[in-house]
Amino acid sequence: MLDNVSTLKTLVLGRKPGHSLEAPFYTSPEVFEADMEAIFYRHWIYVGIEPDVPEPGDVATVNVGKASVLIIRDDDNEIRAFHNVCRHRGARLVGEEKATVGNIVCPYHSWTYGLDGQLVHAPHMGAGFDATCKGLKPVHLRSLEGLLFICLADNPPEDFDEVAARMGPYIAPHKVRETKIAYQSDLIEMGNWKLVIENNRECYHCEANHPELTVPLFAYGFGFAPEEMDQLDLENAQRYDALRQASHAEWEKLGLPSREIEELDSRVTGFRTERLPLDGDGESHTMDTRAACKVPLGAFSSAKLGGLSFWTQPNSWHHFLGDHIVTFSALPLDEGRTLVRTKWLVNKDAVEGVDYDIDRLIEVWTATNAQDSALVGMCQQGASNPAYEPGPYSPNTEMLVEKFVRWYISRMTEYVGQ
Ligand code: FES
Ligand code: FE
Repeated sequence: MLDNVSTLKTLVLGRKPGHSLEAPFYTSPEVFEADMEAIFYRHWIYVGIEPDVPEPGDVATVNVGKASVLIIRDDDNEIRAFHNVCRHRGARLVGEEKATVGNIVCPYHSWTYGLDGQLVHAPHMGAGFDATCKGLKPVHLRSLEGLLFICLADNPPEDFDEVAARMGPYIAPHKVRETKIAYQSDLIEMGNWKLVIENNRECYHCEANHPELTVPLFAYGFGFAPEEMDQLDLENAQRYDALRQASHAEWEKLGLPSREIEELDSRVTGFRTERLPLDGDGESHTMDTRAACKVPLGAFSSAKLGGLSFWTQPNSWHHFLGDHIVTFSALPLDEGRTLVRTKWLVNKDAVEGVDYDIDRLIEVWTATNAQDSALVGMCQQGASNPAYEPGPYSPNTEMLVEKFVRWYISRMTEYVGQ
C-alpha cells in the first residue's frame, strides 16, 4: 500500500532503467488512481474508429477510468465527443456501448440534448431557467484518418497535430472511414494496463507462445541477439533484412510510406510505425498468409502489402493489412484488470460469407489475444508475489518495452513534480 504522494514520487524517481517496474506500479490502487489522473485523463487516448458511428444519430460510449464519454455522429456528419453525464443531476445518459438516437434523452427526468450537445428540452424548470449554459460538456476529439482519439484534459497535449501529419500518409491509403466493423471482441485481461502494453511491445515471447501469429509474422522484425545465433539463423536474418529494405522501396513506389518512424519516448504523444513484410504469401494475418477478405481496402491493386503497424502511448496498437485492419485499445478497469478491445475492419462493401469468413478473419488474433491475456495474468500474479523484484529487459528484444516504461516514468515525473 502507498500512503502518500511522496511515496509515489520516490517510486517514480527511483525507477531502475532497463528493468521492469517495482511491484506497486502493477498492484497498488493508489498508483492506479495516479495513472488515471496523470496518464489517462491527460493524454490522447485511442477509443475507436469513425465506423463505430457510421450514421447520423449513432452513439458509442467508451469508459476511460471513471469517465464515460459519448462519441456521436451529428446530423452534419461531424463526429463529436461529450461527457456521458446529464447536466441536471448527473445521471449517466447512455448505458449501452452502442445506440442510435434522434436526441439524447436522459432516462431520469427527460432532459433532452441535441446531437450537437445543446440542451433542447428541460421540462418544468420554470420561466427563468437558462438552458443555453446547460449543454453537454464537450470532450476533445481528433480523428487520425478515421482513428478516434479523445483527451479528457482541458488543455490536451499540443503535439497531436504533428503526430497526425507524420502518421496520416501511412494510414490514409487503408481508408479506415470506408470500412465496417466485421467483428469486435472485448477481453478482460487479469493484469495492470502497463503489463498489457509491455507485453504488446515485444515479440521475445512470440516463438514460445504464439504459434498462430508467427505464421505470418517474421520474429526477426522484432530484434534478436546475433551473437547467440547459428550460421543458418544469421543468414535468414540477413535475408529478412534485405527483404524488408526491398519491400519498403517497392511499397513506397506504390505511394505507401513504409519506413520506420520511432518517437515512442521522445514526445508527449509517443508513437511508432513501420510497414513490415509478412512470411509465406505475405498478404495478411491469417493462418495461410493469404488475404482473408476478397474485397481489398481502399484502392489497393496488390494484396501483398505486408503489415503496417502503428503503436501509440499509452494505450493502442494497430495492424493495417491490404485486406483488413485489426485495431486494439487497452482501457484500464482497475489496478489488476484491463479491457482489451479488438476490432477487425473490412471494406464496407464486403459481404460476410461471400467475401470473407469471420472465423478465418479473426483466427490469428483471437488465438494471440487469448495467449497474451494468459501471459499478462501470469505477470500480474508474479508482481503480487512478495518474491517479485524488477528484472532486466533484453537489450536486443525488449527495447520498445523500455521505451514505453521510460515514457510512462517521464510523464509520471511531470505529474509528481521533480
Ligand atoms: Fe438527467 Fe435529471 S438527471 S434529467
Ligand atoms: Fe503476444
